[in-house]
Amino acid sequence: MSHSSGAATTRLAVVPGSFDPITNGHVDIIERSLRLFDRVVVAVLRNEAKAPLYSAAERVQIIREVFGPRPGLEVDTFDGLLVEYAAARDAAVIVKGLRSVGDYEYESQMALMNRRLQPGIETMFLMPAEPYAYTSSRLIKEVCRLGGDIHGLVPPLVEARLQRTFAMQRDPLNAPRSV
Ligand code: PNS
Repeated sequence: MSHSSGAATTRLAVVPGSFDPITNGHVDIIERSLRLFDRVVVAVLRNEAKAPLYSAAERVQIIREVFGPRPGLEVDTFDGLLVEYAAARDAAVIVKGLRSVGDYEYESQMALMNRRLQPGIETMFLMPAEPYAYTSSRLIKEVCRLGGDIHGLVPPLVEARLQRTFAMQRDPLNAPRSV
């Protein structure tokens, strides 16, 4: 397929989520999106009311560290309606990862509601690689907090950071200071 590279034909996809913290499942979906779209914006929900483990600024910084400088990739935050953010960014597509039928139930509701709110924006579902089909930030945090092995489920710097964060929670005086 050939198309000119002017701004009007640039295809921008928004990959939204809480990313508290980013997992290898998220990385997989973002990498797949980067292969499909000219520009990808990872949009971090500023959901401070949900008492996230990491602040929005920390989640953004972690994602930037994981990817390093990558042409076409941007990391941003949003709050309010996702479709309003996507429309303001002139996005053609919202990309979501779909792991299982469990995800489908909720994701299909959100996709149809988002289409009603903003008919010009499509939701596209991508399947993560199989090893990540059963993982989530919530489960990974729980396993790590309880001392279980999360190696391979998150990028190495996220694994180290989670271990420091939970060590600090368990024993604030003896844990490494820098998280
Ligand atoms: O990583 P998560 O927590 O599963 O991501 C969920 C997210 C951020 C995609 C979803 O909660 C969202 O879109 N929130 C923004 C508020 C909104 O638009 N709500 C209406 C959805 S139909």
